[in-house]
Amino acid sequence: MNNSLDVVILAAGRGTRMRSQHPKVLHSVAGMPMLEHVLRTLHGLHPARVVVVVGHGADAVRSAMKDRGLTFALQDPPQGTGHALLCARSVISAPHIVVLPGDVPLLPAEALKLLLNRHREADALLTLLTTERAEPGQYGRVLRDESGAVTRVVEAADATDEERSVREVNAGVYCMSNCLPMWQALETLLPDNAQGEVYITDLVKRAAADGRCAAVTWPCETDLMGINDRCDLAQAEGYLRQRILQQLMVSGVTVVDPGSTYVSPEAEVNEDTVLYPNTHIYGKCRVGRGCSVGPGAHLEDTELEDGVTTLWSMLEGAWVGTGARVGPYAHLRPGARIGPSARVGNFVEVKAASLGNGAKANHLAYIGDATVGAGANIGAGTITCNYDGTRKHHTHIGGGAFIGSNTALVAPVRVGENAVVGAGSVIDRDVPPYALALGRAPQVVKEDWNRDREVT
Ligand code: UD1
Ligand code: CA
Repeated sequence: MNNSLDVVILAAGRGTRMRSQHPKVLHSVAGMPMLEHVLRTLHGLHPARVVVVVGHGADAVRSAMKDRGLTFALQDPPQGTGHALLCARSVISAPHIVVLPGDVPLLPAEALKLLLNRHREADALLTLLTTERAEPGQYGRVLRDESGAVTRVVEAADATDEERSVREVNAGVYCMSNCLPMWQALETLLPDNAQGEVYITDLVKRAAADGRCAAVTWPCETDLMGINDRCDLAQAEGYLRQRILQQLMVSGVTVVDPGSTYVSPEAEVNEDTVLYPNTHIYGKCRVGRGCSVGPGAHLEDTELEDGVTTLWSMLEGAWVGTGARVGPYAHLRPGARIGPSARVGNFVEVKAASLGNGAKANHLAYIGDATVGAGANIGAGTITCNYDGTRKHHTHIGGGAFIGSNTALVAPVRVGENAVVGAGSVIDRDVPPYALALGRAPQVVKEDWNRDREVT
């Protein structure tokens, strides 16, 4: 842990431009709240304490981020970014503070390291992170004197036309020294601006006046983008997606159509796997080597071992063994475990059930709360009747068993290994190993029954 560093994340703002019931920092980018992205960026810094300033939607932010070892400070009501930092004062103790907004999900850890190094080297009161933007839009402009030293930051709304033409902008990410002059300066800032708020950016002018303001410029404007509205959100989503897919491609994964492939930042995909169009890999997925995923695959919190094929299917909370084939049109629900070389597909649903090595359920089946042994064959239309209206019950199918088409297995029930169940059976009693079970109305044949009927 780095005892000389505390971090303050500003996340109390109203986020008016999102036009949302939900706090801005909880909106997702690549399936993860933007605040979560910011927290991940901080991992490498090992700060002593991470303080999140909450205000608008405070309870929602607190509960989404509970049990994370975070300290929360309340800003109620939000009166600007400068006021937000003041609200965290009582819980900060480290000599250096990194302050950043909760709406910068693309911020790289390297940019923070650069900022910290610059701050220490310059022995500054405040160091800010800047970047050049082709279209600086609503960002605060960084103003410098003839010598190139930063003099102040002016918000777009308060800027003159000339100031607005400056393309170097403030990323809203700062490193500050935790000292009395800094807090005194912050306490005396006034909300004398277009928005009537206490701006943290006004600290820059104070630090510069003392000759203790430093700045460091990051070369990629995209990395530092702030999300203010849903257009920014979609843009960030696109950039992050591209970044993730590029890393995968560089590491040996084929992505046939990056435009229709979505992979979460938490997912792992290994070499020689091919991701076909319209593939969605969300949450904590692990995809082994040499897999074929898609077209049309939706994976969530699922693990695929090496050489798995899955297409036109949805897999959630599932595990699939080496060389198994899932789909087309399978739905693996939480607790589905598909053994090596097994096959599941053509409208088959599996929930809380395991299929042994090489087992097959190839057509139109529901396998829920069940254990299916190695090499068993589940015929088309087989249903495990696992629910009696109140409770769930287990079905056990032994290895090598053959379940004929259109069988209803009324759980709890056991079919022994290598047993055979005739097609169309309703099985509500255990079937011993190697037995044949028939649970259907016997067929009646009436010879010549139709011979004398008049045919019109
Ligand atoms: C801010 C900067 C701007 C910079 C831009 C970079 C100020 C005044 N302006 O503008 O110079 O270019 O970020 O993205 O700081 N917040 C609070 N309490 C408040 C207000 C805001 O906690 O009272 C939080 C918000 O939740 C947000 C962050 O501070 O996470 C930044 O606020 P936002 O309103 O997005 O500032 P910008 O207008 O983007
Ligand atoms: Ca912002």
